[in-house]
Amino acid sequence: MPDIHVVRKDNRHLYEAYFDPYFRLRHEIYVKQRKWMALERPDGREIDQFDTEEAVYLFCIDNNQLIGAMRAVPTLMPTLMSELFPYLNIRGPVQRHDVYELSRIFVIPERRGEHAGPRIDMLLLTAIMEYGLSTGLTGFSIVLESWWLPRFERCGWKAHPLGVPHMMDGMSVLAVLVDCDEGTWTTLCSQIGLSRPVLTWRGLAGVNRRSLPDISTRVQPTAQQAQ
Ligand code: COA
Repeated sequence: MPDIHVVRKDNRHLYEAYFDPYFRLRHEIYVKQRKWMALERPDGREIDQFDTEEAVYLFCIDNNQLIGAMRAVPTLMPTLMSELFPYLNIRGPVQRHDVYELSRIFVIPERRGEHAGPRIDMLLLTAIMEYGLSTGLTGFSIVLESWWLPRFERCGWKAHPLGVPHMMDGMSVLAVLVDCDEGTWTTLCSQIGLSRPVLTWRGLAGVNRRSLPDISTRVQPTAQQAQ
């Protein structure tokens, strides 16, 4: 199984070699493949104003290759929702120390829809819950396309809409707040057959982490992977 690494400002130096491929992959996937042309950059590296020192990245690494990732940004800082899409949130901006905004989840095309082990996207969704629980978060805000909602429903993510969907460039997009709680994490671990936490915290021994519930006895080993 690939490793999911927590990368933050305190240990970023250990992952410097991955950042150039990471930003190039984002350009390849979001600009070239998904045609989100507003993100196009002449140097072929998709970096935006939310890639600050405070951003937290989950890097899914297999045999030294980055095969998937996700970004989390504190909502006390500017976010996609507050700066670019404020009209999606009719309740006003989410600005809370215990809520991070998720964005830029991707899996490289050749590793999507895998069934030989936990799917990489499911691993990332499980890993970010683990990160949130470990660091005292209670939720994640997300601007997303509405096709995520049935996927969240299937994997047990509880997503609360913050406004109504808007059509943008042919996509139905909305803002949600997702609960970060032990029940969601343990259910996901059970679904994908994990009996222990998945995150690698290399170089982050100084981070104060909360203890997680014991999941070693809750797993129902099954070949069936959550879709
Ligand atoms: N529009 C609508 N549905 C989509 C979709 C899109 N752009 N991308 C994925 N899906 C849904 C579909 O239901 C798809 O089912 P299908 O096989 O019947 O088309 C299902 O997700 C499976 O997607 P797939 O890409 O095969 O694999 P995955 O589940 O392993 O990975 C993603 C899902 C989103 C991680 C992967 O598709 C990806 O990296 N996409 C590019 C990055 C991206 O768009 N991220 C989301 C916005 S930040």
